[in-house]
Amino acid sequence: MTEKYLDFLGLTIYQIYPRSFCDSNGDGIGDLQGVLSKLDYLQDLGVNAIWLCPCYKSPNVDNGYDVADYRDIMDEFGTMDDIKALIAGLHQRDMKLIMDLVPNHTSSQHKWFIESRKSKDNPYSDYYYWYDTPPNNWQSAFLGSAWQYDELRGQYYLHSYAPEQPDLNWENPAVVQEMQDVVDFWVDLGVDGFRIDVIDQISKDMNGDNFFGPRLHEFINALFGRENTKHIFTVGECWADDIAEVRRHCGADRGELSTLFQFDHQQCGRSSKFIPKKQSIRDFWEILKNWQLLMQKEELLYSLFTDNHDNSWFISRMGDTEKNRYEVATCVATLLYLMRGVSFIYQGQELGMVNSCHNTIEEFDDVESVNLYKENIGSAPAQSILDMINFGGRDNPRRPMCWSGAENAGFTTGKPWLAVNVHYPKINLETEMHAERSVWRFYRELLNLKCREKTLQIGAFQVVEDAPTHCIYSRSWEGKTYYVVCNFEEATQISGMAGKRLALSNYGFARKETDAFAPYEIAVFEGE
Ligand code: GLC
Ligand code: CA
Repeated sequence: MTEKYLDFLGLTIYQIYPRSFCDSNGDGIGDLQGVLSKLDYLQDLGVNAIWLCPCYKSPNVDNGYDVADYRDIMDEFGTMDDIKALIAGLHQRDMKLIMDLVPNHTSSQHKWFIESRKSKDNPYSDYYYWYDTPPNNWQSAFLGSAWQYDELRGQYYLHSYAPEQPDLNWENPAVVQEMQDVVDFWVDLGVDGFRIDVIDQISKDMNGDNFFGPRLHEFINALFGRENTKHIFTVGECWADDIAEVRRHCGADRGELSTLFQFDHQQCGRSSKFIPKKQSIRDFWEILKNWQLLMQKEELLYSLFTDNHDNSWFISRMGDTEKNRYEVATCVATLLYLMRGVSFIYQGQELGMVNSCHNTIEEFDDVESVNLYKENIGSAPAQSILDMINFGGRDNPRRPMCWSGAENAGFTTGKPWLAVNVHYPKINLETEMHAERSVWRFYRELLNLKCREKTLQIGAFQVVEDAPTHCIYSRSWEGKTYYVVCNFEEATQISGMAGKRLALSNYGFARKETDAFAPYEIAVFEGE
């Protein structure tokens, strides 16, 4: 195992959606100064890096995933001086900054696209995919055809997402060079790594698929296999569900990525994000366990996450959060984060945040949800579409962070850009700090435990017991072993931990060896 790999196993990365994290100047939009003001909070929580969702100049059709200038900051978020101050503030605290890189597409407002449209033979004309007639019938991820006719140029261009997000043509060596320069610009500025947006799409086969094209690995290597980039941390958003493909992306000899966001355990068997399906801790465990064993055998780095800015709250799908919010949140977190891999926590997850219900389309912002509404409003009742969006829509995690029970959840003194979560009077940092059974306090203990204990970072993962009702796994290193005992949904008698020290438990430390485990109870023991 390389030193770099061992180092990365100790990373706990907090994902920030800057627009909704903390507003420093009362305009209703979160900003970089807001992030800066919360670094002590994050350090105390036990995280050692942040991943900042895109904060580049952007007209915000897809909230920053439509970049108009890769070398400047979005007006509402601040300035280049603010990002430099953020890097300095993080490094002072021995924390890392992971930037979001969006190499598959730009904004239609990007200079490259503005020029590219003008004619078929200008320096930027081949920066995008232009055709007289679409070569295939690919669909956009946000509904409708992925091909858009452009009056000015008199041709069609490809947009895998919104029409305002034209796909870059990576077959053009000038595009590869441009993106290398962008990476170098940020590495020179001191960033420690990148999360790479839809990395699996940058190479295409126009006669086949829009994913995993024939030159994918060559392009990734061109970005991150170079002398000045091969040491940095990189996580690619990638739907690889086959270990051979994961190895091709992340093998130590590949010069590509450190790790991937794979979505198996996060999807947990669901087929559509908008259609409710009961999911269980048992299924979650089953999928995670298999990946842990595979990845460990191959010495590959797994990404441990449940939430992000693209999915409704995970615990709202895993259990009855009206009844068991604390139990489900703490059970999921312990089972997941004490496994082997890089930990990712999404803002608000540490509060045990749950989905919010809104009854007018005006209270939603996300292009995906708004398109879904527009597409179906003629044929389905409004409420049934709103139900789908409330359940699965991306606005859920994007609503302002709930810092307190004060107006607007303490996120802003102005009018928040997006309606706050309806649960904020009950679920917010202040109430969580004082609650008897606090998801936040538990997260803080859990993350700090992982941060302190090398065994929980690099120790070998082993399945100790795998029953229909519960599971036990261990992490061992240099004579020390931690056991994670997780009970699923029914009370269960679990034995075998006699004589071991209880290190962490979501049911308090009063438990006796003879007690049955309660639903969602999870306990961590330390022994040999
Ligand atoms: C990724 C991002 C998502 C964005 C899409 C297009 O999936 O996570 O938020 O809409 O790429 O850039
Ligand atoms: Ca602001």
